[in-house]
Amino acid sequence: MAGLIPQDFIDDLIARADIVEVVGRRIQLKKAGREFKACCPFHGEKTPSFTVSPGKGFYHCFGCGAHGTAIGFLMEFDHLSFVESIESLAGAMGVDVPRSESDQPARRYDELFSLMDTVARHWQSCLKDSPEAVEYLKKRRIDGATAKRYGIGYAPDGWSNVLDKFGKSEEATERLLATGLIIRKDNGKHYDRFRDRIMFPIRDSRGRTIGFGGRTMGDGEPKYLNSPETVLFHKGRELYGLYESRQAIRHIERLVVVEGYMDAVALARNGIDFAVATLGTATTGEHLNRLFRLTENAYFSFDGDRAGKKAAWRALENALPQVREGRQIRFVFLPDGHDPDSFVNENGAAVFVEMLDTGLPLSEFLIQELSSQVDMETIDGRARLAEIARPLVNKIPTGVYRELLIESLAEAVGLTGIKLEKLLADSAPRDSAAKTHATTERFKVRKHSGAGQPSVVRRAITLVLNNPAAAIKLNIEDLTGVQRAGVDLLAALIETVQAQPNITTAGLLEHWRHDEQGRHLGKLAAADVPMDDEFDAVAELTECLQQLAQAGRKERIEHLIEKQELTGLSDIEKGELTALLAGAKPKK
Ligand code: UTP
Ligand code: MN
Repeated sequence: MAGLIPQDFIDDLIARADIVEVVGRRIQLKKAGREFKACCPFHGEKTPSFTVSPGKGFYHCFGCGAHGTAIGFLMEFDHLSFVESIESLAGAMGVDVPRSESDQPARRYDELFSLMDTVARHWQSCLKDSPEAVEYLKKRRIDGATAKRYGIGYAPDGWSNVLDKFGKSEEATERLLATGLIIRKDNGKHYDRFRDRIMFPIRDSRGRTIGFGGRTMGDGEPKYLNSPETVLFHKGRELYGLYESRQAIRHIERLVVVEGYMDAVALARNGIDFAVATLGTATTGEHLNRLFRLTENAYFSFDGDRAGKKAAWRALENALPQVREGRQIRFVFLPDGHDPDSFVNENGAAVFVEMLDTGLPLSEFLIQELSSQVDMETIDGRARLAEIARPLVNKIPTGVYRELLIESLAEAVGLTGIKLEKLLADSAPRDSAAKTHATTERFKVRKHSGAGQPSVVRRAITLVLNNPAAAIKLNIEDLTGVQRAGVDLLAALIETVQAQPNITTAGLLEHWRHDEQGRHLGKLAAADVPMDDEFDAVAELTECLQQLAQAGRKERIEHLIEKQELTGLSDIEKGELTALLAGAKPKK
């Protein structure tokens, strides 16, 4: 649903925008080699680790991990939406933003927002007319005031309530479609997405409704039906309940992240106004950026089961680039079978807050979890611990926090901090502004060493992102038939570069902005990649592709041999195997 502003226009805008000017107009930049530096505007620091690269059209903070394009910077720094950022950027460059289909008034953003708001209010008013819905909320111990504060409503049963009421003209129907409130059938007819569900409006930081989550009152599937990704709603960014928390609390001292709508609402109902929920996705770096801009104290309270533990670990991994002294991150594991909703309703707010205060600090969670994966009784086990800790510790920005964590880890492994630090540093690139040459060396070491190293696909993607021009002449055929996670994305990136040879890092990122994978690309673009003259990205990339092609052939041979033994091969497969064994490329 990114199609409001033509992608061509965005490509062009990003290619022409001068990120140094955009950023430099807002914070003071200092030239440092090919790049520009400043103290990061997104976290407090005294020595600059915020870097702007004019070549890549990209900024990156080695301290807190913030990164993005000129558009991304405006979104973060000026608190603009995606479209507003584009408008701002275009405005500064003196160009008008064209609207593909959207010159039709049907698709104007303010109208979409106002439609969402109207529908939210409509569903709120439907609530009192449904005894079942009222009964359900009562059963879930949500009182009227809380329901009102969160705008909770009820979408009555029926295939066309919303459609009939709000889709009276063709344009109105288009708006309903664009906001995901109705669904189009193959025959061109429409029907309501949300039927017979308790409705939770999802609001952005300004309180505008951008999406909905609808809970069934019975055992129907899915339990929660959510708005699809639309021009207004991007799941991985939003924290449910953040607006409501900010309304309730003048100065937010802490925030607790929970998994469910009901968890956030139940906590609020019990007087804990500082709960926010991720929307059925893992806690992303983007979520954490948002959170840490408001407070230094974050808690994660997930379910006591295995899935909850896993979600907590994901949150930990994503939080590492943002940990630092003065920042408190704790993990709270509730007793098995409980979620924050059931727990707070059973035990009350005081007990829950007590749980938060005594929650497991991030460092302890990290060490505990890693220790449980190795046999700490043996020397081998403890050495292995250092090994598996390395990539995690290296995500933490250099500083006191990191030092202290290494100390605790050293204690657990029975080494001195200095020894362990040496072990951790060996052959691993630090996530900090290292000297280019040193980085080149490390990059090479990294490439040839064994387990736990980034995959070839990942390395290739990183190279293409950082050095798009190096992909212009690559032979994409090498990738056909290679079965590896990420190969499709790699191929798509290369194809995009080949179609637009002048595209920059920023241009590629903008292309993938609305894609689930776009988030990961940002991180890879921020990776330490040597950019000096000696570094031959074309050769590196070619080697990656050849390695992949070879691995693909090997896997195919193994597959065919196994099949031969099990069920025999067809004539075509026999021919293919013979050719493969002779070292030829497989025919497609
Ligand atoms: P849970 O299954 O833990 O539900 O999903 P819950 O929050 O405890 O809900 P109740 O108490 O049964 O009402 C956690 C979150 O995952 C997303 C929702 O955001 C939900 O709040 N989810 C879950 C979905 O989006 N769809 C689903 O079908 C289930
Ligand atoms: Mn629940």
